[in-house]
Amino acid sequence: MADRILVLDAGTTSTRAMIFAPDGTMEAVAQEELTQHYPRPAWVEHDASEIWTKTLACARQVTGEAAGAIAAIGITNQRETVVAWDRHTGEPLARAIVWQDRRTAQFCADMKDYGHEAAVQQRTGLLLDPYFSGTKMRWMLDHDETVQAAAQNGALAFGTVESWLVYKLSGGAHLSDASNASRTQLLALDGAQFDEDLCELFGVPRAALPEVVDTHGSLATSEPEWLGRAIPICGLAGDQQAATIGQGCLGFGETKATYGTGAFVLTNMGQAIPRSDHRLLGTVLYQQDGVRTYAIEGSCFVAGSLVQYLRDQLGLIGSAAETEELARSIEDSGEVVIVPALAGLGAPHWKPDARGVISGLSFASGRAQIARAALEAMAHQTHDLASAFAADGAPWCRLNIDGGMSVNDWMAQDLANILDLPVERPDFVETTALGAAILAAVGCGLFATLDDAAPAMRGGTRCFAAEMAKDVRDARLARYAKALAAA
Ligand code: G3P
Repeated sequence: MADRILVLDAGTTSTRAMIFAPDGTMEAVAQEELTQHYPRPAWVEHDASEIWTKTLACARQVTGEAAGAIAAIGITNQRETVVAWDRHTGEPLARAIVWQDRRTAQFCADMKDYGHEAAVQQRTGLLLDPYFSGTKMRWMLDHDETVQAAAQNGALAFGTVESWLVYKLSGGAHLSDASNASRTQLLALDGAQFDEDLCELFGVPRAALPEVVDTHGSLATSEPEWLGRAIPICGLAGDQQAATIGQGCLGFGETKATYGTGAFVLTNMGQAIPRSDHRLLGTVLYQQDGVRTYAIEGSCFVAGSLVQYLRDQLGLIGSAAETEELARSIEDSGEVVIVPALAGLGAPHWKPDARGVISGLSFASGRAQIARAALEAMAHQTHDLASAFAADGAPWCRLNIDGGMSVNDWMAQDLANILDLPVERPDFVETTALGAAILAAVGCGLFATLDDAAPAMRGGTRCFAAEMAKDVRDARLARYAKALAAA
C-alpha cells in the first residue's frame, strides 16, 4: 500500500525533498542550496527556474524507483516571495522578489501617509511593510517591461513559491493555499478568494492571481513525467504555518517559534479572526473545506542569518555550532548587546530603515562576547514578541521551539531563562517538513484529522526550564532596550 509522503520544502537558502513514513520517521532527504542574488543594497532575488529544477532534482533523488510507495505530495515554502511567469509557456518573466527584499519601503511609507494602513490591517491582518507580496507584485508591474507586456496580453501569472511549484508539477494548475495567500495583502482574512478592492488598492490585476484553495485535501496532481507516475498533491502551507502544525500546536493558545533564517512565532487563535493592537500579524494557519483556523504571528527577519553573518562576513567564527562553545566559555557577554536589525526591524517594531547595532564594546570584548551576544539577541527579540502577544490577550504558557538554530542547547536554555517559561524542543527539529507531511497525510486520507495525525507523527521532546535570577534577567532586558533605541 502506498503510505509514504513526499515533502518538498522550498526554503529561502535551500530547497529540499524528504520522504516520511506514516509514523513521522524521515526516511530520505536531498538538499540543494539556492543562489541568492543581491543586485542592489536591500534587494534580494531568486531565480524561479532554479527553485523548480533543484526542487525537482531533490524529489527525483529521494523518490528513486519508489514512486509507487508515495501516497501524496506535501509542499511547504518560504512565504511572501513573488514569482511572475507566463501562463502559456510556463517560463518565469523576471527574477522572483524574495520576502527579505526592502525595495518597496518608500511605496509602503507613501501608502501609510495616505492613511491606508488601518484598513489594510483590518482586512488582511497585515501591516504596510515591504515584507509582504502585494507591493512586490506592484513593483514588477511598474518597473519590468516583460511583466507589463504579459499583464496586457493576459499571459501574466503571479504566485508565491508553492503556487509556482504546483503550476510546474501539475502542468498548469494555478493555485495558492489559504495560508500562503494570507501573506500577500490581497486576501481578506474572511474572504474565500483574492479581494477585488485590495487588488485595486495595490494595483495588482485580479486575473493574474491564483485560485485560493484549502491547505489539505485533493488539491492537484503531478504530471507523470516528473516522478514516473501521477501523484496527488494533498498538502500545501507556508513554512511557518507548516511548522506550527508540525509542532502539534493545534489547540487555542499553543505557540511555536522557529529559528531559521529569521525567527517566526505563531500562536493558534482558533476559528475567530484575530485582531492585534500591538503590531502583530493575523494570518491563516490552515483551511479545511473552506473553514479557517487562524494564528497571530510575530516575525523577526534575522535569526540564523546573524550567525551566518558572523561566520561569512566578519569571519569571527568557523561554524554556527562554535557559538555554543564560545557562549559557554564566559560568564556573561561583558555587557555587549547586539540588536540584529540587519534587514530592518520586523514585529513588533516594523522599522524597515532600522539597522543593526553592537553596543557595549570594550577592550575586553572578543569573539566569545560577540558570539554570546548574538545568541542572547534571539531571547531578547523573542521577549519583545512575548510582551506584544500578552498585551494582545494571547500570553504564552510554554514555547515550542524548532528550526536549525534551535539545536543550540545554550540558546534554548537562554530562551527559557529570559522568557521565564518552559521551552520545549522536539528531538526532530525539522518541524516545517513534518507539518507538510502531516497536512498531506490527512489530505490523502492516511489519517482522518490533524488531531489524529500530529500525535502519531511527532516524536519525543526535551524541555528546558527557566533558571535565571530575576535581577540578572531584568538587567539583560534593560541593556537590550537601550541598544534597541539606537537601532
Ligand atoms: O516569511 C518568511 C519565511 O517564510 C521564511 O522562512 O525558513 O526561510 O526562514 P525561512
